[in-house]
Amino acid sequence: MLEEELHRLLAEAIAELTPISGQKELEAVRVRYLGRKGLLTQVLRNLGQAAAEDRPRLGKLANEVKEQLEARFVEKGAPLATTQTSDDPARPRTDLSLPGRRVPFGRLHPVTQIMDEVCSIFEMLGFAVAEGPDVELDFYNFEALNIPRHHPARDMHDTFYVNDRVLLRTHTSPMQIRAMEKQPPPLRIIAPGKVYRCDSDITHTPMFHQVEGFLVDRKVSFADLKGLLAVFCQKMFGSTTSLRFRPSFFPFTEPSAEVDIACVICRGAGCRVCKQTGWLEILGAGLIDPAVFRMVDYDPEEYSGFAFGLGIERIAMLRYGIDDIRLFYENDLRFLRQF
Ligand code: DAH
Repeated sequence: MLEEELHRLLAEAIAELTPISGQKELEAVRVRYLGRKGLLTQVLRNLGQAAAEDRPRLGKLANEVKEQLEARFVEKGAPLATTQTSDDPARPRTDLSLPGRRVPFGRLHPVTQIMDEVCSIFEMLGFAVAEGPDVELDFYNFEALNIPRHHPARDMHDTFYVNDRVLLRTHTSPMQIRAMEKQPPPLRIIAPGKVYRCDSDITHTPMFHQVEGFLVDRKVSFADLKGLLAVFCQKMFGSTTSLRFRPSFFPFTEPSAEVDIACVICRGAGCRVCKQTGWLEILGAGLIDPAVFRMVDYDPEEYSGFAFGLGIERIAMLRYGIDDIRLFYENDLRFLRQF
């Protein structure tokens, strides 16, 4: 009796499940047969009324029917789960005509753009790029550049010291020493990077960028330096840009000069940006001091060279007519998006 009922239940369930094509429908049938209050449970409730000797056999049969049914439902449900999704009316369809979601585009920071431009001009002129550490030894930052411990030139630098011997480099000039230490002349190198000074106002930030350039060979003269910087300024600021060399002092160059370009705003007539002088300072330069050559075992009788250092933010400010350096580091997207 019970045995027949179980067989019939299995046959009916299979017959009902075969034509089903929707997941919801399948689930309804599964609950009706296999659910907690389903047909199988109802049949099993009568197991207690069966003869004691028949019970183990009937119990085993009931389990087999249940397992078989579960397997059938799983088997039937798997393909429906993948094919059914798109024509299930309850599910919103994907509208393939909608435009995609835009990923916001990043861009290079104006300081990075100018840095890249400066480097590519010098690379075009045959210079190789070298990079060095921001955390530098006092020896490379000062000592080897002819700035001994109590030299007054150290006052110009507002140095962040890490300890007695270690500091944040205040300029990229230590790369002159690092490069010359490593290789014999001739060499032609530019060294871009971050530098640090304890200083902050509308024309100074505690971190800024410089590019150092230097060239060492036999018979290098001040005229070579002047020619190179003229080419650079014309590429950077336009072919009609004029240059002015002013005598200056740096411990690591002799003679030394500061270089001005004709004011990019007023073209030399005099304005607020150039403080009515018609000129804007853009870099320091000079012929490398023999004392520096001796530090790296170059023979100053045989070799000569020039060096220059330029501030990237300063060039960016002149290029774009920006009068407050701090704008570069406030990360205001309205400012940054203009470049
Ligand atoms: N290191 C100097 C500074 O940061 C700039 C400089 C001046 C670099 C003259 C040079 C140079 O190579 O020859 O103030």
